Amino acid sequence: VVDIRKLYANAGVFTYDPGFTSTASCDSTITFIDGGKGELLHRGYPIDQLAEKSHYLEVCYLLLYGNLPSAAELETFETTITRHTMIHEQMHNFFRGFRRDAHPMATMVGVVGAMSAFYHDSTDISDPRQREIATHRLIAKMPTIAAMAYKYSIGQPFVYPRNDLDYASNFLHMCFSVPSEEYHVNPILARAMDRIFTLHADHEQNASTSTVRLASSSGANPFACIAAGIACLWGPAHGGANQACLEMLAQIGTVDHIPEFISRAKDKDDPFRLMGFGHRVYKNFDPRAKVMKQSADEVLDLLGIEDNPKLQVAKELEKQALEDPYFAEKKLFPNVDFYSGIILEAMGFPTSMFTPIFALSRTVGWVSQWKEMIADPQNKIGRPRQLYLGDTSRDYVDIENR
Ligand code: ACO
Repeated sequence: VVDIRKLYANAGVFTYDPGFTSTASCDSTITFIDGGKGELLHRGYPIDQLAEKSHYLEVCYLLLYGNLPSAAELETFETTITRHTMIHEQMHNFFRGFRRDAHPMATMVGVVGAMSAFYHDSTDISDPRQREIATHRLIAKMPTIAAMAYKYSIGQPFVYPRNDLDYASNFLHMCFSVPSEEYHVNPILARAMDRIFTLHADHEQNASTSTVRLASSSGANPFACIAAGIACLWGPAHGGANQACLEMLAQIGTVDHIPEFISRAKDKDDPFRLMGFGHRVYKNFDPRAKVMKQSADEVLDLLGIEDNPKLQVAKELEKQALEDPYFAEKKLFPNVDFYSGIILEAMGFPTSMFTPIFALSRTVGWVSQWKEMIADPQNKIGRPRQLYLGDTSRDYVDIENR
Protein backbone atom coordinates (compact mmCIF):
# COMPACT_ATOMS: atom_id res chain seq x y z
CA VAL A 1 0.00 0.00 0.00
CA VAL A 2 1.40 3.39 -1.02
CA ASP A 3 1.80 5.88 1.83
CA ILE A 4 0.49 8.96 0.02
CA ARG A 5 1.41 11.37 2.81
CA LYS A 6 5.02 10.22 2.72
CA LEU A 7 5.17 10.17 -1.07
CA TYR A 8 3.83 13.73 -1.35
CA ALA A 9 5.58 15.17 1.74
CA ASN A 10 7.50 17.64 -0.46
CA ALA A 11 4.69 18.52 -2.89
CA GLY A 12 3.37 21.61 -1.10
CA VAL A 13 -0.37 22.31 -1.44
CA PHE A 14 -1.85 19.43 -3.37
CA THR A 15 -5.47 18.65 -4.32
CA TYR A 16 -6.91 15.63 -6.06
CA ASP A 17 -10.03 16.20 -8.16
CA PRO A 18 -10.47 13.56 -10.89
CA GLY A 19 -12.61 14.87 -13.73
CA PHE A 20 -12.33 18.46 -12.39
CA THR A 21 -15.71 18.15 -10.69
CA SER A 22 -15.02 21.07 -8.35
CA THR A 23 -11.86 22.76 -9.56
CA ALA A 24 -11.84 25.83 -11.84
CA SER A 25 -9.02 25.58 -14.35
CA CYS A 26 -9.18 29.25 -15.39
CA ASP A 27 -11.13 32.47 -15.00
CA SER A 28 -13.24 33.76 -17.85
CA THR A 29 -15.74 36.52 -18.73
CA ILE A 30 -17.40 34.71 -21.62
CA THR A 31 -20.02 32.22 -20.40
CA PHE A 32 -21.79 31.58 -17.10
CA ILE A 33 -23.78 28.45 -16.23
CA ASP A 34 -25.96 28.06 -13.16
CA GLY A 35 -26.47 24.30 -13.31
CA GLY A 36 -28.94 24.24 -10.44
CA LYS A 37 -31.20 26.84 -12.02
CA GLY A 38 -30.66 25.62 -15.58
CA GLU A 39 -29.33 29.00 -16.70
CA LEU A 40 -26.82 29.72 -19.46
CA LEU A 41 -25.55 33.26 -20.10
CA HIS A 42 -23.19 34.44 -22.82
CA ARG A 43 -21.56 37.71 -21.76
CA GLY A 44 -24.60 38.08 -19.49
CA TYR A 45 -27.29 37.45 -22.12
CA PRO A 46 -29.59 34.42 -21.54
CA ILE A 47 -29.33 31.72 -24.21
CA ASP A 48 -33.09 31.58 -24.82
CA GLN A 49 -33.13 35.31 -25.68
CA LEU A 50 -30.15 34.91 -27.98
CA ALA A 51 -31.74 31.86 -29.67
CA GLU A 52 -34.97 33.75 -30.22
CA LYS A 53 -33.80 37.28 -31.09
CA SER A 54 -30.23 37.02 -32.30
CA HIS A 55 -28.45 34.89 -34.87
CA TYR A 56 -25.24 32.89 -34.96
CA LEU A 57 -22.81 35.46 -36.38
CA GLU A 58 -24.05 38.12 -33.97
CA VAL A 59 -23.52 35.64 -31.11
CA CYS A 60 -20.05 34.93 -32.51
CA TYR A 61 -19.27 38.64 -32.31
CA LEU A 62 -20.63 38.78 -28.76
CA LEU A 63 -18.52 35.84 -27.62
CA LEU A 64 -15.38 37.11 -29.33
CA TYR A 65 -15.54 40.81 -28.46
CA GLY A 66 -17.67 40.98 -25.31
CA ASN A 67 -20.63 43.11 -26.46
CA LEU A 68 -23.47 42.98 -28.96
CA PRO A 69 -22.29 44.70 -32.15
CA SER A 70 -23.70 47.93 -33.59
CA ALA A 71 -25.28 47.56 -37.04
CA ALA A 72 -22.06 48.79 -38.69
CA GLU A 73 -19.84 46.48 -36.60
CA LEU A 74 -22.06 43.52 -37.43
CA GLU A 75 -21.99 44.28 -41.13
CA THR A 76 -18.20 44.53 -41.16
CA PHE A 77 -17.87 41.29 -39.18
CA GLU A 78 -20.32 39.39 -41.41
CA THR A 79 -18.58 40.66 -44.54
CA THR A 80 -15.19 39.60 -43.20
CA ILE A 81 -16.43 36.11 -42.33
CA THR A 82 -18.19 35.72 -45.68
CA ARG A 83 -14.99 36.70 -47.53
CA HIS A 84 -13.01 34.00 -45.75
CA THR A 85 -15.32 31.05 -46.47
CA MET A 86 -13.37 29.71 -49.46
CA ILE A 87 -10.53 27.31 -48.84
CA HIS A 88 -7.48 27.24 -51.08
CA GLU A 89 -7.82 24.82 -54.01
CA GLN A 90 -4.69 23.01 -52.88
CA MET A 91 -6.46 22.10 -49.65
CA HIS A 92 -8.77 19.85 -51.68
CA ASN A 93 -5.82 17.45 -51.80
CA PHE A 94 -6.02 17.06 -48.02
CA PHE A 95 -9.49 15.55 -48.40
CA ARG A 96 -8.50 13.28 -51.25
CA GLY A 97 -5.92 11.58 -49.04
CA PHE A 98 -8.68 10.11 -46.88
CA ARG A 99 -10.76 7.01 -47.52
CA ARG A 100 -14.27 7.87 -48.68
CA ASP A 101 -15.82 5.87 -45.85
CA ALA A 102 -13.88 7.76 -43.16
CA HIS A 103 -16.06 9.37 -40.48
CA PRO A 104 -16.35 13.12 -41.33
CA MET A 105 -15.01 13.89 -37.81
CA ALA A 106 -11.83 11.96 -38.64
CA THR A 107 -11.46 14.01 -41.81
CA MET A 108 -12.08 17.25 -39.91
CA VAL A 109 -9.47 16.52 -37.24
CA GLY A 110 -6.95 15.98 -40.04
CA VAL A 111 -7.90 18.88 -42.30
CA VAL A 112 -8.24 21.49 -39.54
CA GLY A 113 -4.90 20.39 -38.04
CA ALA A 114 -3.39 20.63 -41.52
CA MET A 115 -4.52 24.27 -41.78
CA SER A 116 -1.43 25.11 -39.73
CA ALA A 117 0.64 23.52 -42.49
CA PHE A 118 -1.09 25.86 -44.93
CA TYR A 119 -1.91 29.22 -43.34
CA HIS A 120 1.55 30.08 -42.01
CA ASP A 121 0.68 33.76 -41.95
CA SER A 122 -1.71 33.29 -39.02
CA THR A 123 0.16 30.94 -36.72
CA ASP A 124 2.31 33.46 -34.84
CA ILE A 125 0.27 33.84 -31.68
CA SER A 126 2.39 36.72 -30.38
CA ASP A 127 1.01 38.92 -33.19
CA PRO A 128 -2.56 40.17 -32.43
CA ARG A 129 -3.23 40.71 -36.14
CA GLN A 130 -2.35 37.12 -36.97
CA ARG A 131 -4.55 35.97 -34.10
CA GLU A 132 -7.43 37.95 -35.56
CA ILE A 133 -6.93 36.48 -39.04
CA ALA A 134 -6.80 32.95 -37.59
CA THR A 135 -10.06 33.69 -35.74
CA HIS A 136 -11.82 34.79 -38.92
CA ARG A 137 -10.43 31.91 -40.93
CA LEU A 138 -11.53 29.29 -38.45
CA ILE A 139 -15.09 30.60 -38.07
CA ALA A 140 -15.48 31.16 -41.81
CA LYS A 141 -13.89 27.99 -43.14
CA MET A 142 -15.22 25.45 -40.66
CA PRO A 143 -18.63 25.10 -42.42
CA THR A 144 -16.84 24.73 -45.75
CA ILE A 145 -14.58 22.02 -44.32
CA ALA A 146 -17.49 20.19 -42.63
CA ALA A 147 -19.56 20.31 -45.83
CA MET A 148 -16.60 19.11 -47.90
CA ALA A 149 -16.00 16.22 -45.47
CA TYR A 150 -19.65 15.28 -45.99
CA LYS A 151 -19.61 15.61 -49.78
CA TYR A 152 -16.39 13.61 -49.95
CA SER A 153 -17.90 10.84 -47.81
CA ILE A 154 -20.87 10.44 -50.16
CA GLY A 155 -18.81 10.68 -53.34
CA GLN A 156 -20.30 13.95 -54.58
CA PRO A 157 -18.33 16.93 -55.93
CA PHE A 158 -17.43 19.70 -53.51
CA VAL A 159 -19.81 22.68 -53.56
CA TYR A 160 -18.24 26.13 -53.27
CA PRO A 161 -19.53 28.62 -50.72
CA ARG A 162 -21.87 31.37 -51.89
CA ASN A 163 -21.22 34.89 -50.62
CA ASP A 164 -24.81 36.02 -51.13
CA LEU A 165 -26.11 33.55 -48.54
CA ASP A 166 -26.08 33.91 -44.77
CA TYR A 167 -23.89 31.58 -42.69
CA ALA A 168 -26.51 28.86 -42.06
CA SER A 169 -28.05 28.98 -45.57
CA ASN A 170 -24.59 28.75 -47.08
CA PHE A 171 -23.84 25.63 -45.04
CA LEU A 172 -27.08 23.96 -46.18
CA HIS A 173 -26.25 24.94 -49.76
CA MET A 174 -22.75 23.43 -49.55
CA CYS A 175 -24.15 20.20 -48.08
CA PHE A 176 -27.21 19.69 -50.26
CA SER A 177 -26.59 21.37 -53.64
CA VAL A 178 -25.78 19.04 -56.50
CA PRO A 179 -24.59 20.20 -59.94
CA SER A 180 -27.56 18.74 -61.83
CA GLU A 181 -30.34 20.61 -60.05
CA GLU A 182 -30.96 23.95 -58.45
CA TYR A 183 -31.20 23.92 -54.67
CA HIS A 184 -33.23 26.56 -52.87
CA VAL A 185 -32.52 26.94 -49.18
CA ASN A 186 -35.73 26.93 -47.19
CA PRO A 187 -35.52 30.02 -44.91
CA ILE A 188 -37.27 28.22 -42.05
CA LEU A 189 -34.78 25.35 -42.20
CA ALA A 190 -31.94 27.90 -42.41
CA ARG A 191 -33.30 29.56 -39.26
CA ALA A 192 -33.45 26.17 -37.49
CA MET A 193 -29.87 25.46 -38.63
CA ASP A 194 -28.75 28.85 -37.36
CA ARG A 195 -30.42 28.14 -34.02
CA ILE A 196 -28.56 24.82 -33.71
CA PHE A 197 -25.30 26.70 -34.35
CA THR A 198 -26.26 29.36 -31.76
CA LEU A 199 -27.24 26.84 -29.08
CA HIS A 200 -23.88 25.07 -29.41
CA ALA A 201 -21.69 28.18 -29.69
CA ASP A 202 -20.03 28.04 -26.27
CA HIS A 203 -20.39 26.22 -22.98
CA GLU A 204 -17.51 27.33 -20.74
CA GLN A 205 -14.95 24.71 -19.65
CA ASN A 206 -16.38 21.52 -21.16
CA ALA A 207 -13.92 18.77 -22.17
CA SER A 208 -13.19 20.05 -25.69
CA THR A 209 -12.82 23.69 -24.64
CA SER A 210 -10.52 22.66 -21.80
CA THR A 211 -8.56 20.63 -24.35
CA VAL A 212 -8.19 23.68 -26.59
CA ARG A 213 -7.05 25.77 -23.61
CA LEU A 214 -4.57 23.14 -22.44
CA ALA A 215 -3.15 22.67 -25.94
CA SER A 216 -2.81 26.42 -26.47
CA SER A 217 -1.24 26.97 -23.04
CA SER A 218 1.97 25.58 -24.50
CA GLY A 219 1.90 28.24 -27.24
CA ALA A 220 0.72 25.86 -29.96
CA ASN A 221 -0.85 27.52 -33.02
CA PRO A 222 -4.65 27.99 -33.13
CA PHE A 223 -5.34 25.50 -35.93
CA ALA A 224 -3.53 22.72 -34.05
CA CYS A 225 -5.41 23.63 -30.86
CA ILE A 226 -8.83 23.60 -32.54
CA ALA A 227 -8.00 20.24 -34.14
CA ALA A 228 -7.33 18.95 -30.61
CA GLY A 229 -10.74 20.32 -29.54
CA ILE A 230 -12.44 18.54 -32.46
CA ALA A 231 -10.76 15.26 -31.47
CA CYS A 232 -12.01 15.61 -27.90
CA LEU A 233 -15.52 16.59 -28.96
CA TRP A 234 -15.87 13.40 -30.99
CA GLY A 235 -16.36 11.13 -27.94
CA PRO A 236 -19.89 9.85 -27.18
CA ALA A 237 -19.82 11.32 -23.64
CA HIS A 238 -19.42 14.78 -25.24
CA GLY A 239 -20.25 15.95 -28.80
CA GLY A 240 -20.63 12.43 -30.11
CA ALA A 241 -23.74 12.10 -27.93
CA ASN A 242 -26.02 13.59 -30.62
CA GLN A 243 -25.16 10.78 -33.05
CA ALA A 244 -25.36 8.20 -30.25
CA CYS A 245 -28.72 9.61 -29.12
CA LEU A 246 -30.35 9.26 -32.52
CA GLU A 247 -28.94 5.77 -32.91
CA MET A 248 -30.40 4.93 -29.50
CA LEU A 249 -33.84 6.28 -30.49
CA ALA A 250 -33.70 4.11 -33.63
CA GLN A 251 -32.68 1.12 -31.55
CA ILE A 252 -35.59 1.66 -29.14
CA GLY A 253 -37.82 1.81 -32.20
CA THR A 254 -41.28 2.05 -30.65
CA VAL A 255 -42.62 3.48 -27.40
CA ASP A 256 -43.47 0.05 -25.98
CA HIS A 257 -39.72 -0.74 -25.77
CA ILE A 258 -38.95 2.32 -23.63
CA PRO A 259 -39.34 0.65 -20.19
CA GLU A 260 -36.80 -2.00 -21.18
CA PHE A 261 -34.21 0.68 -22.09
CA ILE A 262 -34.92 2.69 -18.95
CA SER A 263 -34.31 -0.44 -16.86
CA ARG A 264 -31.06 -1.03 -18.70
CA ALA A 265 -29.94 2.57 -18.02
CA LYS A 266 -30.57 2.04 -14.31
CA ASP A 267 -28.77 -1.32 -14.16
CA LYS A 268 -25.23 -0.76 -12.82
CA ASP A 269 -24.05 -3.99 -14.48
CA ASP A 270 -25.14 -2.74 -17.89
CA PRO A 271 -22.90 -0.08 -19.50
CA PHE A 272 -25.91 1.34 -21.39
CA ARG A 273 -26.80 4.98 -20.59
CA LEU A 274 -29.62 7.09 -21.91
CA MET A 275 -27.79 9.18 -24.48
CA GLY A 276 -28.76 12.86 -24.42
CA PHE A 277 -29.49 12.60 -20.71
CA GLY A 278 -27.42 13.96 -17.85
CA HIS A 279 -24.84 16.68 -17.62
CA ARG A 280 -21.84 17.41 -15.44
CA VAL A 281 -23.02 20.94 -14.65
CA TYR A 282 -26.79 21.03 -15.25
CA LYS A 283 -28.72 19.46 -12.40
CA ASN A 284 -31.91 20.90 -13.88
CA PHE A 285 -33.23 21.25 -17.45
CA ASP A 286 -30.55 22.21 -19.94
CA PRO A 287 -32.00 25.52 -21.23
CA ARG A 288 -30.74 24.66 -24.72
CA ALA A 289 -32.77 21.42 -24.74
CA LYS A 290 -36.00 23.38 -24.22
CA VAL A 291 -35.34 25.56 -27.30
CA MET A 292 -34.23 22.52 -29.27
CA LYS A 293 -37.43 20.61 -28.45
CA GLN A 294 -39.55 23.52 -29.69
CA SER A 295 -37.40 23.80 -32.82
CA ALA A 296 -37.82 20.06 -33.49
CA ASP A 297 -41.60 20.46 -33.41
CA GLU A 298 -41.42 23.45 -35.80
CA VAL A 299 -39.13 21.74 -38.30
CA LEU A 300 -41.11 18.50 -38.42
CA ASP A 301 -44.30 20.49 -38.77
CA LEU A 302 -42.84 22.49 -41.65
CA LEU A 303 -41.65 19.36 -43.41
CA GLY A 304 -45.04 17.74 -42.89
CA ILE A 305 -43.52 14.94 -40.81
CA GLU A 306 -46.27 14.67 -38.25
CA ASP A 307 -45.64 11.15 -37.04
CA ASN A 308 -41.91 11.00 -36.80
CA PRO A 309 -41.33 7.77 -34.81
CA LYS A 310 -38.05 9.00 -33.30
CA LEU A 311 -39.67 12.22 -32.04
CA GLN A 312 -42.50 10.17 -30.56
CA VAL A 313 -40.01 7.86 -28.83
CA ALA A 314 -37.94 10.87 -27.66
CA LYS A 315 -40.95 12.64 -26.13
CA GLU A 316 -42.22 9.52 -24.40
CA LEU A 317 -38.74 8.56 -23.24
CA GLU A 318 -38.26 12.04 -21.75
CA LYS A 319 -41.63 11.76 -19.99
CA GLN A 320 -41.02 8.29 -18.56
CA ALA A 321 -37.43 9.08 -17.48
CA LEU A 322 -38.48 12.30 -15.74
CA GLU A 323 -41.17 10.38 -13.82
CA ASP A 324 -38.65 7.75 -12.74
CA PRO A 325 -37.14 8.21 -9.24
CA TYR A 326 -33.68 7.06 -10.45
CA PHE A 327 -33.37 10.01 -12.85
CA ALA A 328 -34.95 12.44 -10.38
CA GLU A 329 -32.57 11.45 -7.58
CA LYS A 330 -29.52 11.76 -9.79
CA LYS A 331 -30.89 14.97 -11.33
CA LEU A 332 -30.60 13.63 -14.87
CA PHE A 333 -32.44 15.78 -17.43
CA PRO A 334 -32.36 15.92 -21.24
CA ASN A 335 -29.33 17.83 -22.53
CA VAL A 336 -28.82 19.78 -25.77
CA ASP A 337 -28.14 16.61 -27.73
CA PHE A 338 -31.46 14.98 -26.96
CA TYR A 339 -33.46 16.79 -29.65
CA SER A 340 -30.83 18.21 -32.03
CA GLY A 341 -30.39 14.91 -33.89
CA ILE A 342 -34.09 14.72 -34.73
CA ILE A 343 -33.94 18.14 -36.38
CA LEU A 344 -30.74 17.34 -38.25
CA GLU A 345 -32.10 14.03 -39.50
CA ALA A 346 -35.31 15.70 -40.67
CA MET A 347 -33.17 18.20 -42.59
CA GLY A 348 -31.52 15.31 -44.42
CA PHE A 349 -28.22 14.95 -42.55
CA PRO A 350 -26.89 11.45 -41.86
CA THR A 351 -26.01 10.75 -38.20
CA SER A 352 -22.28 10.89 -39.01
CA MET A 353 -22.68 14.64 -39.71
CA PHE A 354 -24.19 15.50 -36.34
CA THR A 355 -20.91 15.83 -34.47
CA PRO A 356 -19.17 17.78 -37.31
CA ILE A 357 -22.08 20.25 -37.11
CA PHE A 358 -21.51 20.52 -33.36
CA ALA A 359 -17.79 21.09 -34.05
CA LEU A 360 -18.39 23.90 -36.51
CA SER A 361 -20.86 25.55 -34.11
CA ARG A 362 -18.48 25.26 -31.14
CA THR A 363 -15.51 26.66 -33.08
CA VAL A 364 -16.38 30.20 -32.01
CA GLY A 365 -16.46 29.13 -28.35
CA TRP A 366 -13.07 27.46 -28.67
CA VAL A 367 -11.61 30.46 -30.48
CA SER A 368 -13.10 32.98 -28.01
CA GLN A 369 -11.64 31.07 -25.07
CA TRP A 370 -8.31 30.73 -26.84
CA LYS A 371 -8.24 34.50 -27.57
CA GLU A 372 -9.12 35.31 -23.97
CA MET A 373 -6.40 33.02 -22.69
CA ILE A 374 -3.64 34.30 -25.00
CA ALA A 375 -4.43 37.91 -24.11
CA ASP A 376 -4.20 37.19 -20.37
CA PRO A 377 -0.79 38.23 -18.97
CA GLN A 378 -1.24 35.64 -16.17
CA ASN A 379 -1.51 32.85 -18.75
CA LYS A 380 0.83 29.98 -17.95
CA ILE A 381 1.23 26.48 -19.30
CA GLY A 382 -1.42 24.06 -18.02
CA ARG A 383 0.30 21.29 -16.14
CA PRO A 384 -2.04 19.18 -13.97
CA ARG A 385 -0.51 17.17 -11.15
CA GLN A 386 -1.28 13.50 -10.59
CA LEU A 387 -1.77 11.24 -7.62
CA TYR A 388 0.80 8.50 -8.04
CA LEU A 389 -0.31 5.13 -6.66
CA GLY A 390 2.35 2.88 -8.18
CA ASP A 391 5.46 1.30 -6.73
CA THR A 392 7.80 3.46 -4.70
CA SER A 393 11.55 3.47 -5.34
CA ARG A 394 13.02 0.00 -5.88
CA ASP A 395 16.28 -1.35 -7.26
CA TYR A 396 16.68 -2.50 -10.84
CA VAL A 397 16.77 -6.31 -11.22
CA ASP A 398 18.94 -7.88 -13.94
CA ILE A 399 16.92 -9.84 -16.51
CA GLU A 400 18.35 -13.23 -15.48
CA ASN A 401 17.21 -12.68 -11.90
CA ARG A 402 13.55 -11.74 -12.63
N1 ACO B 1 -28.17 7.35 -18.10
C1 ACO B 1 -28.19 6.63 -16.94
N2 ACO B 1 -27.49 6.96 -15.85
C2 ACO B 1 -26.71 8.05 -15.90
C3 ACO B 1 -26.65 8.86 -17.06
C4 ACO B 1 -27.41 8.48 -18.17
N3 ACO B 1 -27.40 9.21 -19.31
N4 ACO B 1 -25.82 9.89 -16.84
C5 ACO B 1 -25.36 9.76 -15.59
N5 ACO B 1 -25.90 8.64 -15.02
C6 ACO B 1 -25.69 8.17 -13.63
C7 ACO B 1 -24.32 7.52 -13.49
O1 ACO B 1 -24.38 6.14 -13.70
C8 ACO B 1 -23.97 7.89 -12.07
O2 ACO B 1 -24.63 6.98 -11.22
P1 ACO B 1 -23.95 6.56 -9.80
O3 ACO B 1 -23.92 7.80 -8.98
O4 ACO B 1 -24.90 5.52 -9.27
O5 ACO B 1 -22.61 6.01 -10.12
C9 ACO B 1 -24.58 9.26 -11.86
O6 ACO B 1 -25.68 9.32 -12.79
C10 ACO B 1 -23.63 10.41 -12.13
O7 ACO B 1 -23.07 10.22 -13.43
P2 ACO B 1 -21.56 10.53 -13.78
O8 ACO B 1 -21.17 9.79 -15.02
O9 ACO B 1 -20.69 10.36 -12.58
O10 ACO B 1 -21.69 12.08 -14.08
P3 ACO B 1 -20.70 12.93 -14.96
O11 ACO B 1 -20.93 14.33 -14.58
O12 ACO B 1 -19.32 12.40 -14.86
O13 ACO B 1 -21.19 12.64 -16.47
C11 ACO B 1 -22.24 12.81 -18.57
C12 ACO B 1 -21.94 13.50 -17.23
C13 ACO B 1 -20.92 12.27 -19.20
C14 ACO B 1 -22.84 13.82 -19.53
C15 ACO B 1 -23.21 11.64 -18.32
O14 ACO B 1 -24.44 12.13 -17.78
C16 ACO B 1 -23.50 10.81 -19.56
O15 ACO B 1 -22.72 9.90 -19.89
N6 ACO B 1 -24.60 11.12 -20.33
C17 ACO B 1 -24.88 10.47 -21.57
C18 ACO B 1 -24.03 11.05 -22.67
C19 ACO B 1 -24.46 12.44 -23.08
O16 ACO B 1 -25.64 12.71 -23.28
N7 ACO B 1 -23.46 13.32 -23.25
C20 ACO B 1 -23.69 14.69 -23.69
C21 ACO B 1 -23.34 15.67 -22.62
S1 ACO B 1 -23.77 17.29 -23.12
C22 ACO B 1 -22.62 17.73 -24.25
O17 ACO B 1 -21.52 17.31 -24.28
C23 ACO B 1 -23.05 18.70 -25.20
